[in-house]
Amino acid sequence: MSLLKSDDVYERASRVIPRAAQTGLRAETHYPHPFVPEKAYGCRMVDVDGREYTDYHLAFGPILLGHNHPEVNEAVKEQIDEGVLYGAGVCELEVEVAEKLVDLIPSAEMVNFVNSGTEATYHAIRLSRAYTGRESIIKFEGCYHGWHDYVAFNVSPPENMMGRIYPQSKGILRAAYETTRILPFNDSDAFREFMAEHGEEIAGVILEPIPHSVGAIIPERKFLKTLRRETETYGSVLIFDEIITAFRHSIHGVQEEFGVVPDITTIGKSMGNGYPVAAIVGKKEIMSLVHNGVLVSGTYSGHPAALAAVKKTIEVLERDNVVDYISHLGEEYRRALGDVLDELGIEARVVGYRSIFALQFARGEVRSYADIVGIDRERFREFAAGMRKRGIFFTPNPLKRCHLSAKHTEKELEEFIHAAREVLKSMK
Ligand SMILES: Cc1ncc(COP(=O)(O)O)c(C=O)c1O
Repeated sequence: MSLLKSDDVYERASRVIPRAAQTGLRAETHYPHPFVPEKAYGCRMVDVDGREYTDYHLAFGPILLGHNHPEVNEAVKEQIDEGVLYGAGVCELEVEVAEKLVDLIPSAEMVNFVNSGTEATYHAIRLSRAYTGRESIIKFEGCYHGWHDYVAFNVSPPENMMGRIYPQSKGILRAAYETTRILPFNDSDAFREFMAEHGEEIAGVILEPIPHSVGAIIPERKFLKTLRRETETYGSVLIFDEIITAFRHSIHGVQEEFGVVPDITTIGKSMGNGYPVAAIVGKKEIMSLVHNGVLVSGTYSGHPAALAAVKKTIEVLERDNVVDYISHLGEEYRRALGDVLDELGIEARVVGYRSIFALQFARGEVRSYADIVGIDRERFREFAAGMRKRGIFFTPNPLKRCHLSAKHTEKELEEFIHAAREVLKSMK
């Protein structure tokens, strides 16, 4: 019998929980050994065997202020002392947070809260269909928008399926194959040509303005402007999925800095620092359809505890200038990691934006998923396993990314770079 509690819990989990995890991507984090977290604080996670890790995974991104943030937790406790869930009418906290989002996010005129990013993109697309009376949508290769049938295509297709409809799951409705059209990211000409032929059929165009679901693809300004212009011309709804980027890269969403205002924006993750909350925000003209012909529902939507977390998280983000701090630190990580690659002559690149970075075993510029599909995945897994042994945690999935929080400092940067140098040297 194993002496490690992690192994025991994993074995028990395997009997009652498919692949011993609640999500497929979490199941991957059982590599190189079962991972059974027991607690998390600041930028650390500790497993049931007392092994401590510096966390760059941050639960796929939401933990912007650091794990177990005392002020956010206190705000949640105060709220649950007043009532956990009312499920009727509208409480003042909902109004306050909605007003704040309308102030912050350029495209937000009205707000509807839901519990997850997947619900948000589902409803954004349904709204686009209701608003236009059309059925088809466009999504881009390499973008992830959740697990529902409308969008579970071409997030990370194998090379031979690029450009063709590729389901990320079995069991998806045939109708979804026919109504979800896939285009390459950053290709303005392809988009224009497609719209010239099919624009009148397109209800909505959804994208991650910076596709982080495959590391980081920086959008060309021209591309985003083309999307805006063409969707306006053909009367399609432009949906920015800012579930990763809003609050993490800017409290206004990246739509502000790229100068393109979509019709609808979906937000989630970082805005609640780990509490389950997301929102659809957008133009009044479209959002007014919610509960006026368009069904949007959910027992837990606008959950007071989660909204108390959002309110406090935004307050701390603004007060402490968190985005500037983590963005600057992110630049330092990318530069230092790039220097190590140069020093060791390793064929790899560092991609990222602000507080997100990723190491990819490939060379060259990244303009679309076509530049990512061929990365050396096995080498990345070996790197991730080596880092895990040295107390540094991130997902071993080679398409994903590392995140920083307000609790990461220069000390963690030094440790990360030291460990990376050792691991990369051992892999040479
Ligand atoms: C860009 C983006 N959209 C949507 C989602 C789905 O969000 P959730 O996992 O909260 O359903 C995610 C989750 O990773 C995401 O990264």
